[in-house]
Amino acid sequence: MHRILVIGGGSIGERHTRCFQNTGRADVCLCEVSDEVRSRVADTYSLSASFKTLDDALADHGSGKPFVAAVVCTPAHLHIAMARQLAEAGIGLLIEKPLSTSEDGIEELRSLVEENSLAVSVAYVMRHHPAFAAMKETLDTGRFGRPVQIVYTGGQHFPFYRPAYREIYYTKRETGGGAIQDGLTHTMNTAEWLLGPITKLVCDAEHLVLDGVDVEDTVHVMTRQTGAGESSILGSFSLNQHQPPNESRMTVLCEQGAVRVEGLRLLTCTEPNSDWTVEEEFHLERDDLFVAQASAFLDQLEGKAEAACTLDEALQTLRVNLAELRSLETQKWETPSV
Ligand SMILES: NC(=O)c1ccc[n+]([C@@H]2O[C@H](COP(=O)([O-])OP(=O)(O)OC[C@H]3O[C@@H](n4cnc5c(N)ncnc54)[C@H](O)[C@@H]3O)[C@@H](O)[C@H]2O)c1
Repeated sequence: MHRILVIGGGSIGERHTRCFQNTGRADVCLCEVSDEVRSRVADTYSLSASFKTLDDALADHGSGKPFVAAVVCTPAHLHIAMARQLAEAGIGLLIEKPLSTSEDGIEELRSLVEENSLAVSVAYVMRHHPAFAAMKETLDTGRFGRPVQIVYTGGQHFPFYRPAYREIYYTKRETGGGAIQDGLTHTMNTAEWLLGPITKLVCDAEHLVLDGVDVEDTVHVMTRQTGAGESSILGSFSLNQHQPPNESRMTVLCEQGAVRVEGLRLLTCTEPNSDWTVEEEFHLERDDLFVAQASAFLDQLEGKAEAACTLDEALQTLRVNLAELRSLETQKWETPSV
């Protein structure tokens, strides 16, 4: 059993608590500042230990009951400072997305991770989605030739899934809120995983519908990505957090065919004016991706697997988030770099 510390027992922290337990390979403990949340989650999942502060948890770690890793589930502006404290104590890290809200402290974190040879991954959970994994496999085989274009549309009714959205990190960009840092970052990380880093982008976004907040709930981005060799891939991405249906569609057009993930299906099309072919259809329960993510991270801790999303890959996607926010200000193309 791996002793795992979940930090922040809110919406995603409770899910990680349950999903790490469901692997059957983890003794999960919790660090949560709210007394009400901490005792509810600790009781619901019969946790072996819980702590109010990270210092209390680290004292326990130092007194002979070491945590092999921590899952950082606090709002994004707190991730790096906590990760650094944990890395200094020699604790592995699964850090929730987005990696942070700025690049502050990330170089120092990287040095600590290297010095202490720690396992680190960032929780971009779509990397465990079987339809996107199948899409990546299809693209990587080169079956349809060189990718040239990526088109994404998606949306969902955020208040339906997070009724408390007016009281959490979502309300402010400084704490990781708004559609760019909250929802779209999953999509941009997936696009980079499939096709390589985004090299420039221009972004338009607005607050249009969600009641009680003024961060953007609707966003459009045009991108260029580096494909194999020197080729350039053109991208367009549109996401909102207010439409009634929960749907998403990502299409990658290659020179000799098209590959699409729509919901839980992988589709392909090669002949002009023909229908899509359903290559594979998957069935998922809501926790399945998170149990797969927990298992993959435990495999990484045991030296059996690489990080599903490395610190460098998550830093690149953080730079995409920040370039999108800059582009909103400048109304110009921006480069996601230092
Ligand atoms: N991968 C996903 O699908 C997914 C889904 C939701 C949220 N997230 C990400 O996870 C992070 C947390 O989101 P959430 O929705 O769970 O937020 P939340 O507000 O529901 O929970 C955050 C919890 O952290 C606790 N906390 C804050 N400061 C703390 C501290 N110093 N020490 C201990 N606990 C502290 C809060 O009391 C709260 O319970 C964000 O980065 C968010 O973007 C990812």
